Amino acid sequence: MQVKVLISAEEIKKRVREMGEEISRDYADKELVVVGILKGAFMFMSDLVREILVPLEVDFMATSSYGHATKTSGVVRLLKDLDTPIEGRHILIVEDIVDSGLTLAYLTQLLQPRKPASIKTAVLLDKPERRRNEFEPDYVGFTIPDEFVIGYGLDYNNKFRELPYVGYVSG
Ligand code: IMP
Repeated sequence: MQVKVLISAEEIKKRVREMGEEISRDYADKELVVVGILKGAFMFMSDLVREILVPLEVDFMATSSYGHATKTSGVVRLLKDLDTPIEGRHILIVEDIVDSGLTLAYLTQLLQPRKPASIKTAVLLDKPERRRNEFEPDYVGFTIPDEFVIGYGLDYNNKFRELPYVGYVSG
């Protein structure tokens, strides 16, 4: 199995910095709760929060993964909820990739009744061709074609998350 680089570590670093600057401008004078979606978002989130200049707290949620498949089952299951109450607070959900859109649509609908001041989403990667609903992320690092990608937090069978770049498997 060969891994080809799609987005290099340098390109990711530059883009994450730009996203942090944009988010910092948008939330100037506000405080954030940054919610990472485990496990895929762990690397993107840890880099992104270091580029956000407004005061923030971090928390995590976990949803069911695809297991050993590369296609979504269409069912999202919550494995871990927030530890933090979010009423009246500004929430930024951070996710590695939006594909069908089912996970982020589910999570935003789950959090909305808890009456946060706002909910936005930041994703490193967007695969718009795969969307199965109307979901649109607020901050997008890179828009990519419909190709299964790995690295920088993204896995295939729980492997390759540690790669510092985003790549795809060929051969
Ligand atoms: P969605 O609910 O279909 O938008 O899928 C979101 C989740 O599917 C992501 O958080 C990833 O864990 C996983 N996923 C979607 N596309 C890929 C991919 O190309 N590589 C690795 N994981 C992916």
